Amino acid sequence: MSVLIGGGTGFVGRHLTKLLAENGLKVTVVSRAAGPNKITWSDLQRTGLPDGITAVVSMSGENILNPMKRWNESFKQAVWSSRVDCTQSLANAICQATNPPKVLVSMSGVGYYKPDPTAEYDEDSPGGDFDYLSELCTAWEAAAKLPSSVSCRQAIVRSGVVLGRDGGMIQQIYWPFFLGAGGRIGSGAQWFPWVHVADVAGIITHAIINDHVSGVLNAVAPEPATNAEFTKAFASAMWRPSIFPVPGFVMNTVYGPERGKVILEGQKVIPKKTLESGYKFAFPDLKSACQDVSQMLTITSVSGS
Ligand SMILES: NC(=O)c1ccc[n+]([C@@H]2O[C@H](COP(=O)([O-])OP(=O)(O)OC[C@H]3O[C@@H](n4cnc5c(N)ncnc54)[C@H](OP(=O)(O)O)[C@@H]3O)[C@@H](O)[C@H]2O)c1
Repeated sequence: MSVLIGGGTGFVGRHLTKLLAENGLKVTVVSRAAGPNKITWSDLQRTGLPDGITAVVSMSGENILNPMKRWNESFKQAVWSSRVDCTQSLANAICQATNPPKVLVSMSGVGYYKPDPTAEYDEDSPGGDFDYLSELCTAWEAAAKLPSSVSCRQAIVRSGVVLGRDGGMIQQIYWPFFLGAGGRIGSGAQWFPWVHVADVAGIITHAIINDHVSGVLNAVAPEPATNAEFTKAFASAMWRPSIFPVPGFVMNTVYGPERGKVILEGQKVIPKKTLESGYKFAFPDLKSACQDVSQMLTITSVSGS
């Protein structure tokens, strides 16, 4: 099989590319920049899917939680179009292909489900219509929907916060925790829907390889946790205290209230269909995930100094 990944140069994409290669699959990436084993978005528009592509993955996206970017209309537009328009371009290329690929797997987020202290969400739960981020997920998922006349299996991967030592949230919080200055965010009681990066790559690969997999798959670990439970597990894996809570107003000041919500509020999400489809999590529990992520970071930081 030969896989085309839109946005495959990023944090999750690097892990996915490695896993696909280990499974004997060839990868080409669609990127804003040209390079080896890459095509650009304008190449895709001009010449369509490269020959021999049997699976397409859509995972591009401007980083929503970039603290250097102000949450204004132009940034929100970049966040939206990097997901919706890029996914639409891949879907259009599939529709126009003489030999369409067997499968399209597209990312989405658990921001689809409304944050709530008590509700429990699986893939069939309603959502996608209550704020900017949930509407973004709806539009993003709609962009990945192919007409029934196109013979191509479709899967949507709704991801929680991805934990990995080389990107995403862990990279942002590693040094405060390493210095013993980490702590829960806000009250800490909010749900923290997390997943290890090896499992996001694993779920996407599972959806590519297995013909029986289609529809929405929640990419969250089967062991739900609150922000306070995650904080405790990560600090303990690093042999550090976690006594410095970050007040909610600090997050709202850094990120703005619309984005701050992503961290200050959370959803309890269950990977019901993901498990029913036969996927086995490499990191099902918080302790093993935090140990993996933090130990490797500690080794890297010691050997790198
Ligand atoms: N990381 C998480 O915790 C998390 C959680 C839920 C959902 N997701 C979703 O999963 C996907 C992959 O996540 P990730 O953490 O791997 O993302 P990432 O590393 O931040 O970015 C993925 C890729 O998106 C492309 N990109 C960035 N800004 C863009 C823009 N303005 N226009 C077009 N392309 C742009 C970049 O590729 P080029 O520079 O090569 O163009 C980048 O390598 C994203 O869609 C993200 O929203 C991630």
